[in-house]
Amino acid sequence: MKTLLESGFSVAVQPGAGVDAGFSDQDYEEAGASIEEEPWRGADFLASLRAPAPEWLGLLNPGAVVVGLFSPAMEPDLAVGAAEAGVSLFSLELLPRITRAQSMDALSSQATVTGYWGTLVAATRLPRFFPMLMTAAGTIPPARVLVIGAGVAGLQAIATARRLGAAVVGHDVRPVSQTEVESLGAKFLSLEAGDVTEGSGGYAASQPAEVQRRQREVLAPAIENSDVVITTAAIPGRRAPVIVTSEMVQSMRTGSVVVDLAADTGGNCELTQVGKEVRVPGGAVVIGVRNPPGGMPMHASQLYSRNIVTFAQAVLSEGKISLDLTDEVLEASCVVYGGEIRHQPTADRVGLAGA
Ligand SMILES: NC(=O)c1ccc[n+]([C@@H]2O[C@H](COP(=O)([O-])OP(=O)(O)OC[C@H]3O[C@@H](n4cnc5c(N)ncnc54)[C@H](O)[C@@H]3O)[C@@H](O)[C@H]2O)c1
Repeated sequence: MKTLLESGFSVAVQPGAGVDAGFSDQDYEEAGASIEEEPWRGADFLASLRAPAPEWLGLLNPGAVVVGLFSPAMEPDLAVGAAEAGVSLFSLELLPRITRAQSMDALSSQATVTGYWGTLVAATRLPRFFPMLMTAAGTIPPARVLVIGAGVAGLQAIATARRLGAAVVGHDVRPVSQTEVESLGAKFLSLEAGDVTEGSGGYAASQPAEVQRRQREVLAPAIENSDVVITTAAIPGRRAPVIVTSEMVQSMRTGSVVVDLAADTGGNCELTQVGKEVRVPGGAVVIGVRNPPGGMPMHASQLYSRNIVTFAQAVLSEGKISLDLTDEVLEASCVVYGGEIRHQPTADRVGLAGA
């Protein structure tokens, strides 16, 4: 906010927008913003988290920029609405993974919160300690935690579980993640399979049947031996891969916990129900965490605001929108510009929706 005001912009905020994050309307007013029922009315730049209501788009100034985390291919109506309203739509999921875009990378900032929160959910739900304890009343061994998916969220989950003193194992299909997992003091569970399919930009891709079979072989005993399984595996723009089967969960001891942090995109566990806790025959529970960053709204918002402000600085100049779509950051994250849907998967989806 301060940065935007110093750059000569006026900022309007919806009433109550920051309540869960710990900021009152008065806090925003004291920082120099105005509180408005419809802050998008006549705005040149609209920052939101998820898709704005379709009717807001027509109330923005023509040529306005809308930015957020929109999963555009999953929401073709948003792109169509933006194209019809003549506003430009940018989605931060599409940012290229280059150094200059890192401070705008909302997927990473929110994944950091997700991983931390997921471990805390597991630790508070598990009916035993995470750390090893040596007490006069006996010695308690550390909890065994398995983290599946060692991207940003997974590594944060591992680091948090290690800080709490658990014995942690990390697993990922990308062999390069082994060093990162081990640098956090966890063991790495490798597939030792040669035919893992690599994605681009450091992301994973869907795995062939043979790799999936090998993965189940490797994971089944590891899951049976774990008190906690935290899953974070994702493939950009796709449903989350199903990795943990119901048999695997049923093999876990009574009281064990599976925390599925990919629940919003379909879940990594066969038994996951988003926003619910499922008790499984055998005594384990599967927690399908809905919107994990929402578990820690203050820091999730703070990090997201930094992502948005950095993006705003890239598209606003001397009080005006100034879009240079030859800039690779803007080019990659642009969904709609000049009435045209430029993001091909979204355009394909719109074509399908209209067919
Ligand atoms: N340079 C940058 O700007 C930048 C920014 C963020 C992340 N990264 C890197 O990109 C990589 C991906 O990170 P992310 O957090 O965005 O990933 P993500 O959220 O897309 O996926 C989470 C993890 O799940 C793993 N996964 C996917 N399918 C799987 C399967 N079937 N079984 C097991 N694991 C599976 C992925 O390999 C990934 O590590 C990491 O190496 C991360 O450090 C780079």
